[in-house]
Amino acid sequence: MEIKIIKSLDQSCDTRVIGLYEDETYSFEDEEIQEMVHYLTKVEEFKWEFGKVESFILPREAKPNKFILIGLGKKEDFTLEKLRKVVAKVIKEGNRLKAKCILLEPMGISKVISVETSTRIIAEISILANYKFDRYQADKKENSIQEIHIWCREENYLEAMEISCQEGRILGEATVFARDLVNEPANVLLPIELANQAKATGEKYGFEVEVFDEDQIQELGMEAYLSVARASENPPRLIVMRYFGDPANQEERIGLIGKGLTYDSGGLCIKPPKGMIDMKSDMGGAAAVIGAMAAIAQMKLQVNVVGVVAACENMISGNAYRTGDIIGSMAGKTIFIGSTDAEGRLTLVDAVHYAIEKEKVSKICDIATLTGAAGYALGNVATPVLSNNDVFFNQLQEASDQTGEKIWRLPCFEEYKELLKSNVADLTNSAGNPGTITAGLFIGEFVQEKPWIHMDVAYTAWADKASDYSVEGGTGGGVRTLYYLVKNESKIK
Ligand code: BES
Ligand code: MN
Ligand code: ZN
Repeated sequence: MEIKIIKSLDQSCDTRVIGLYEDETYSFEDEEIQEMVHYLTKVEEFKWEFGKVESFILPREAKPNKFILIGLGKKEDFTLEKLRKVVAKVIKEGNRLKAKCILLEPMGISKVISVETSTRIIAEISILANYKFDRYQADKKENSIQEIHIWCREENYLEAMEISCQEGRILGEATVFARDLVNEPANVLLPIELANQAKATGEKYGFEVEVFDEDQIQELGMEAYLSVARASENPPRLIVMRYFGDPANQEERIGLIGKGLTYDSGGLCIKPPKGMIDMKSDMGGAAAVIGAMAAIAQMKLQVNVVGVVAACENMISGNAYRTGDIIGSMAGKTIFIGSTDAEGRLTLVDAVHYAIEKEKVSKICDIATLTGAAGYALGNVATPVLSNNDVFFNQLQEASDQTGEKIWRLPCFEEYKELLKSNVADLTNSAGNPGTITAGLFIGEFVQEKPWIHMDVAYTAWADKASDYSVEGGTGGGVRTLYYLVKNESKIK
């Protein structure tokens, strides 16, 4: 999908979108449009309620001849999220009308949101709403939309709109890339393949990617990570992505750590079939990190970021780690294995320790499909978050407000930390309820007082059914929020 800013009505678009607030009167230069809107508005009781769609096809040669009129509701009630929903509806309706090129006006759609923000959202959500995963289907129902034109009526907005459009496009593309990675089945997306995807992405957009094989991981002393990985026939890969956009401030580096279980069978604590069927998605955190790295590098943000993914599979064999085992970790702490299905935190603590010791990160944000309990707490509506630092957390909250990916902070009370203790080792990997908090705090034991954020995307990186601008499957959740977390960091300097 091509998205561009146009300066005048060039008549190359077959479809034009007109957003209408409930409480406004409108006049249009084009008489036929004027008549259409006027006619509808005269129908008794008719209101441009939010989300109402009325499409017209005018019997004329001149383009545009298809019109999508969309209700925006009350002006004072309009929000960023409503704009996202409007754009998603427009894309769906456009494909239904077999539109090839759609013309939108950010000023028209959202008089209450800045032109920059609405331009960015139009570009971003157009890509998200047009996405599908049909790589493995012979019978593809192709979407008709090929181009989105965003109309800049006022010359002095042009430059800002170009930049916003580019940012929106990059974020949209990074997010659907993450969706593709999640949707790719585990027999295809092996740890090695995930590493190859990260490498290709780094080469394409300009960040460095180093991949460590099993022997090198062993040498680093990542015993917790290797305990999880070792039952699989498919060897693990430690993926390290480095982007230094602020070389003058080398000591400031954000570490983005993504859980990269390309499949989670549960190990010897095997999952029931229903719990296993979607476990190719257990690398949703890794996908978010790789996607965010791609966007950060393309936008050339002035900040240093190191992404780390300890990719592996949690499988079963005669060599599998067991419940009751006591294992070591790169940090030297010993861990009692209460459940082989609480594997994510084992891979993550070694990745976190590696990021601090070897990559010298000064702040850490980990993102992981870590606990089913995240779904009990907040459903698929919001991502539970833990943090040891209010300033850093607020920065994430701001990022979340910018993207609409909701987060909610859970407490780190001392009483919960007590639960991590084991009678026979330094820590246990299954400290019990509340599962999302104890899982997160387990990782917190390895962050060495660095500002730290933990995001549990178990229920937000994967969707069981389609919604406004997301389809069933991988959501690409976290990509945009991580991008803004990093971007906000570059702003506070
Ligand atoms: N990958 C799962 C978490 C998960 C569950 C993600 C459902 C997405 C949907 C994780 O490795 C896991 O199995 N967690 C266990 C932890 C328990 C054994 C302490 C869980 O949540 O049940
Ligand atoms: Mn598991
Ligand atoms: Zn898992």
